[in-house]
Amino acid sequence: AINLKGRHFLKLEDFTPQELSYLLDLSQQLKAQKYAGVLPKLLEGKNIALLFEKPSTRTRCAFVVACVDLGAHPEYLGKDDIQLGKKESVADTAKVLGRMFDGIEFRGFKHETVEELAKHAGVPVWNGLTDKYHPTQILADFLTIREHFGRLRGIKMAYVGDGRNNMGNTLLIGCAKMGMDFRIVAPESLWPEEELVKSAREIAEETGASLTLTEEIDQGVQGVDVIYTDVWVSMGEEDQFAERIRLLKPYQVNMEMIRKTGNEDVIFLHCLPSFHNLETEIGRRIYEKYGLKEMEVTDEVFQSKHSLVFDQAENRLHTIKAVMVATL
Ligand code: CP
Ligand code: NVA
Repeated sequence: AINLKGRHFLKLEDFTPQELSYLLDLSQQLKAQKYAGVLPKLLEGKNIALLFEKPSTRTRCAFVVACVDLGAHPEYLGKDDIQLGKKESVADTAKVLGRMFDGIEFRGFKHETVEELAKHAGVPVWNGLTDKYHPTQILADFLTIREHFGRLRGIKMAYVGDGRNNMGNTLLIGCAKMGMDFRIVAPESLWPEEELVKSAREIAEETGASLTLTEEIDQGVQGVDVIYTDVWVSMGEEDQFAERIRLLKPYQVNMEMIRKTGNEDVIFLHCLPSFHNLETEIGRRIYEKYGLKEMEVTDEVFQSKHSLVFDQAENRLHTIKAVMVATL
């Protein structure tokens, strides 16, 4: 039997395919219960710390609502609220929080920070996004794919755009674990680091996954079941806008790319937030500066029947619940 009690959730490398499937099964169960109006207080009396160095809508809200649904108390600690790494070492903060809280979520810049928290907290620590990985997001992506296709094994997915960011890295490992046919379609300078590709290939050897890194769009998206993209510029990399636009413009997910898949039933996923129109402040600034009305995905695709992005966003809640329930 699978038992994840006391485990951290920092990166997918630490979990077997069976353990990941177990988390998805549990998510599915908790989702069905919520839909049926049943909210078992599985985390009654627990206190959960939510540490955020970067902004968040989905991750923060998913953790808060999950806690309340499950009977736990969430405490949000933003970047100016605590001394993490500024006046107090990460290790000391971790030890203090671990004396008071039953679990700790961390979103921030350096992946080393979440590892350091985990090393010293003495309670489960969950990665809510670092520069390197975004593992809770991948659970939601996989739940969405499983709900739609009934399986993960053999599913063909192209991740188009910035292949070197937290999403590209985590999807590479996750898809390798789950035996998928995964392609990163991106300029070579934005492929994941060689070291990570090597680990992913080792995993794929065991699971039968197929991994492709390619610059060629036509070949990369041919026949896929899923097209996935993320922003061209991640949080903390804002100085790279011009360069990323130059590199990634040809990789925009638009109707032409959807047609190139040759699959009328292809689904479109995006972890969100996304630049698909001018309805944001930053979106308008990009338009003024670069003349672009949409970036990594067109509004047409985003709003189309292919797009499951809001099911995917909702699934952040059910999967984060599963991570907390399983590890606590
Ligand atoms: N997808 C995601 O992590 O969204 P937030 O940044 O809003 O949490
Ligand atoms: N790659 C994005 C993901 C946001 C959920 C970022 O890190 O900003």
